[in-house]
Amino acid sequence: MDTLASTPTAATAESYRPALHYTAKNTWLNDPNGLIFHEGVYHLYYQNNPLDNVWGNMSWGHATSTDLLTWTEHPVAIACDANEDIFSGSIVYDRRNTSGFGSGSVAPLVAIYTSAFKPGSPYEGVQAQSLAYSLDGGHTWTKYLGNPVLNRGSAEFRDPKVFRYDGGTESYWVMVAVEATDFQVVLYRSDDLKHWELLSTFGPANATGGVWECPDLFPLPVDGDPENLKWVLTVNLNPGGPNGGSAGQYFLGGFDGTTFIPDSTVTEGLQDPDRLGEYQWLDWGRDYYAAVSFSDAPDNRRLMIAWMNNWEYANHIPTAPWRSPMSLAREISLQTSDGKLCLVQQPANDRGGLADPESFCLSGTTMHDGVQVLPGAAGTVQRIDVSFTPGSAEEFGLILRGDGAKGTRVGIRPGQATLLVDRRESGRTDFHPSFSSKDTAPILARNGSYDLTVFVDHCSVEVFAQDGQVTMTELIFPAETSTDVAVYAAAGTATINSIKVTQLA
Ligand code: FRU
Repeated sequence: MDTLASTPTAATAESYRPALHYTAKNTWLNDPNGLIFHEGVYHLYYQNNPLDNVWGNMSWGHATSTDLLTWTEHPVAIACDANEDIFSGSIVYDRRNTSGFGSGSVAPLVAIYTSAFKPGSPYEGVQAQSLAYSLDGGHTWTKYLGNPVLNRGSAEFRDPKVFRYDGGTESYWVMVAVEATDFQVVLYRSDDLKHWELLSTFGPANATGGVWECPDLFPLPVDGDPENLKWVLTVNLNPGGPNGGSAGQYFLGGFDGTTFIPDSTVTEGLQDPDRLGEYQWLDWGRDYYAAVSFSDAPDNRRLMIAWMNNWEYANHIPTAPWRSPMSLAREISLQTSDGKLCLVQQPANDRGGLADPESFCLSGTTMHDGVQVLPGAAGTVQRIDVSFTPGSAEEFGLILRGDGAKGTRVGIRPGQATLLVDRRESGRTDFHPSFSSKDTAPILARNGSYDLTVFVDHCSVEVFAQDGQVTMTELIFPAETSTDVAVYAAAGTATINSIKVTQLA
C-alpha cells in the first residue's frame, strides 16, 4: 500500500461523501473488521488511520447501526501502539465464557485480530493473532496480556475470521486466516480462543494473481432448503481481480470440521490469466474488497460488507477529509441457476427506509440508436430498477450521474454475454492512471431479458444484475451538476420493459 495521496480541494471532496454508504468522518478506512450483531445493534469495526486520510497507524475504528444504512461513528476501539499495528480480524460473542474474559454474569465479546509487529518490538517482522475483549457491548476493549496467542513466525499470517463450529458431537471455535503470499487459507481450532491447533490448509487454487487476504467460511442453505447446506469459502486477493487490482473470489464445497473440500475441481498452482472469467467472484467491479460476513446476524441471515475501494489507487481517490467508503450491506444466498449453484446478493436493507415517494416510471418503450435523457428522473442518490429486452442493438443500457451522453455507463452487450460498467467519462478520473476503466462481467439473459437494480450515490454505482446473480461495484467522482439519467442503444434497437427511478434521501 503506497501512502502518497492526492490533495483534493475540500469543496469538491466533501461533495463526494456518500449518503447511503459508511465513511469515517475525518479519516482513512479500509477493510471491515469484527462485524457482529449484538444486543440489537450492528457493529462495524474497520481498519482505520485515526490520524490521517491515507493508510497507516492501523487501528480498529468503530461504528454502529440498527438498520445497516445509517451509522454512528464511535471513538477508536482498538488502537495501534509502539509494538503493533492492529490489522484485520473478527469478533465473536463468547456466550459461555470459554475464554475466561467474562466477569460475573457478563459474557465477553472477544476480538481476534492480527498483530502486525513493528520494528523494535519483541516480535519484530512477524504477523501473529492476538485477542482483546470487551465487557461493555463492544465500546471499550482490553488487549489480552498473553498476546500473541497464535504465532507461526510468519511475516504474512493474517486476517483471522473466527466462528463457532457445531459438529453435533462436539463444538469448538474455528479460525480461518491466510498465509497471504503462499495463497493459502489456514484453518485452526480452539476451545478457549487462547490455544489453537492446526486443522488443515486450502490452496493455492483458482485465482492467485495476488496475495490472499481476508478469508471467510460459512454454511448457506441451497435454494433456501435448511436441510441442504453448502459451505462457502471466500478469499479476497490483491491484485489479480477479473478487472484488475483487488477483488474477492469464492469456492463452494463441504466442511467436515477439519477440512474444506471444494465441490468442483479447482485449478492448482499459479494462475492462468485466461481463466479468470471461469472463477467465481463475489463482485466483478473494481471496488469491492475485503468482503466479510457478520457474526450472529439475526434470522440466520448471512450479511456482508466490503471495503469499496481498490489498492491500485485507494490512497489517491479525490476525497477529503475522509477517504474510502464501505459498500452497502448485502444479504448472501445460494441459488441454482441454469443447473449451476452460485452466490446471489441483495442489498440487505431494501426496506425503502430512505425512499422518497417521488419516483419516475416508464414501461414498454423501444429505444433506437442513440441516447435519451429521461426527463424527471435526474438525481444524485437513487435506486434504479430496469428491465431490458434486446433488439438489434449491439449494446444498450443506462447512463448515470450524467451530463447528456456523458456519464457512467451501465450496459449490456448481449452478443458477447457481458454486463459492463464504463467509467471513462464518469467525472474525475485523472487522480490515478489506472482508475479510468471499462469493466465487464459475464451475464446471460433470463427469459429473454436483463434486469438490473442499481444504487447510485455521490461517489459510487452498485449494480445487482439478474436479481443479484452478478454484481458490479465501482467508485465514480462525477460533478455535483451531473445528475441526468439516460438510456442508450448503440447500432440498433432495444426495449425497456420497465424502468423505475426512486430518489433516495
Ligand atoms: C487487506 C489488508 C489485510 C490487512 C489489512 C491492513 O486490505 O491488506 O490483509 O490485515 O489490509 O490494513
